[in-house]
Amino acid sequence: MPIEPTHRFLRACHSLPVDQTPVWLMRQAGRYLPEYMRVRQQAGNFLSLCKNPDLATEVTLQPVYRFDMDAAILFSDILVVPEAMGMSLSFGMGEGPVLEPFLRTPSDLRRLRPVQPEEQLGYVLQTVTQIRQALQEKTPLIGFSGSPWTLATYMVEGGSSKTFRYIKGMLFDQPALLQQLLDQIADVVADYLNAQIAHGVQAVQIFDTWGGVLGPREFVTFSLRSIQRIIDRLQRVGPDGQTVPIILFFFFFGSMLEEMIGTGCDVIGLDWTTHLATARHQVAARAALQGNLDPAVLYATPDIVRHQVRQLLQDYGPYPGHVFNLGHGMAQDMDPGRVVDLVRAVREESRLLLQQNGGMQRIQEKRP
Ligand code: CP3
Repeated sequence: MPIEPTHRFLRACHSLPVDQTPVWLMRQAGRYLPEYMRVRQQAGNFLSLCKNPDLATEVTLQPVYRFDMDAAILFSDILVVPEAMGMSLSFGMGEGPVLEPFLRTPSDLRRLRPVQPEEQLGYVLQTVTQIRQALQEKTPLIGFSGSPWTLATYMVEGGSSKTFRYIKGMLFDQPALLQQLLDQIADVVADYLNAQIAHGVQAVQIFDTWGGVLGPREFVTFSLRSIQRIIDRLQRVGPDGQTVPIILFFFFFGSMLEEMIGTGCDVIGLDWTTHLATARHQVAARAALQGNLDPAVLYATPDIVRHQVRQLLQDYGPYPGHVFNLGHGMAQDMDPGRVVDLVRAVREESRLLLQQNGGMQRIQEKRP
């Protein structure tokens, strides 16, 4: 029998009632924080920071302590997985990530190596252990990975892309080759997430940042199915006996909620282009929802931030199963002061909403 969680964030992931809406922010650790910039400089560069468990632990904790977040997210990057598979990873100044040599042919794929997470990604697992020790049960820790499709875009394009020319070329011209690549990545990701869980992460988030560039049919065949392959293999009870919720984050793809629920995930993370009220009605208690404030709201005044937060909380309503977050990550030119305003607004406004409604209500479940 899994143990019922006490942390607000984990309770909300399992759609259990909470006293106030839990909040954390994607990319909550990063360049908008001066204390992050200091540690990154100490490490030399971003990738060395990811590979130094002491420093990666330190930057993971920075936003948790500064803003009293309801969850910590492991400091790392989705692209350490292709690196572990044998590609060379670098982050060029201002140009984003580069993965070399790119994968385009069957013989390119044969260069990929099998991954033992404890070996090639041991530094990440060590960081997980250290973060859990530092957090001391006070705040739950989220582990993560990229989705196979999202990782494959970087591996085939050789880095970021605007047109996705090569991966889409492979999708239409050589679908079996792409499928083989996605399966291979999915198996590595499943082992990697299971290793993160074994080392103590209490929730996992799969980032499908680029699923939204696909048409609906291709999205199901190439992105969602490979995510399903991972979920089917995940060890969903952690070493402490608690169920580990699975969060799927989708960017620019709110129109396929039924298919997303069908994967058996616990939480669906939405970008800001989906109406939260509509999504909640459609999902009808079958999954929790995470999101989905437009990050650009953080460029506005504290009053506007509060107004936008209140609207979003009202859109969701006084029901269980909401994790407050942005619809995408923090940007480097954002003001940490606005994050203070946002977190305070989420807490005060969600308590008020519950008070006005006589506590949490049950969501009307959909009849089959
Ligand atoms: O959220 C967190 O605080 C945890 C850490 C985290 C990072 N990247 C740190 C990071 C997480 C969860 C990611 C996920 C990630 N990485 C995604 C999926 C989510 C999304 O943003 O859509 C993707 C696509 C990547 C790949 C990646 N990493 C890119 C394209 C870039 C360059 C863009 C940029 O912002 O410069 C990165 C670098 C990166 N990953 C930084 C951080 C803090 C900036 C590195 C720096 O310090 O210069």
